[in-house]
Amino acid sequence: MKTTSALLYLDGVSVAFDGFKALNELSLVIEPGEMRAIIGPNGAGKTTMMDVITGKTRPDSGDVLFEQGQVDLTTLDEASIATLGIGRKFQKPTVFEHHTVYDNLVLALAGPRGPGSNLFWKESAGETKRIEELLGVTRLGDHRNRLAGGLSHGQKQWLEIGMLLA
Ligand SMILES: Nc1ncnc2c1ncn2[C@@H]1O[C@H](COP(=O)(O)OP(=O)(O)OP(=O)(O)O)[C@@H](O)[C@H]1O
Ligand SMILES: [Mg+2]
Repeated sequence: MKTTSALLYLDGVSVAFDGFKALNELSLVIEPGEMRAIIGPNGAGKTTMMDVITGKTRPDSGDVLFEQGQVDLTTLDEASIATLGIGRKFQKPTVFEHHTVYDNLVLALAGPRGPGSNLFWKESAGETKRIEELLGVTRLGDHRNRLAGGLSHGQKQWLEIGMLLA
């Protein structure tokens, strides 16, 4: 483990596919509250970097640490990393097309989801408030009762961001 203030800490990360170096000694530090954009030409390694952070690809070498160096992401599987709060959205939106915008957000809220609790589940006051906040952030308030499948591409993107936040 390292002593760092960073929320996300990558150092010396390398990934090779059949000898081809997709990532070569990549270092990246993100502090709490920081927003970063990663740009680069096609094939530069952006997706590979995201795959390493989210546990889809194991690096050949290097450190990938979360939460002030306390969590070694290279030891965790994708589901565990998602549970830590590292969300990812892809270019192509993945929302539940046959459910309303509102229900998509309800479904995305973290919480116990057994078959029984699903069937009779009604969101709590706190959850209703959170959904209203997310409808505001994503500017989908006016579209809450529409089926997600009918949203524009950009609106689907926002809905998926709202679901990740939920
Ligand atoms: N599974 C794989 N097997 C072999 N080569 C791969 C594999 N995944 C990625 N690569 C190669 O690694 C390099 C980095 O790819 P990556 O997908 O990370 O690039 P990118 O920056 O996301 O590009 P783009 O802007 O096109 O999405 C590319 O040359 C790619 O062909
Ligand atoms: Mg890519």
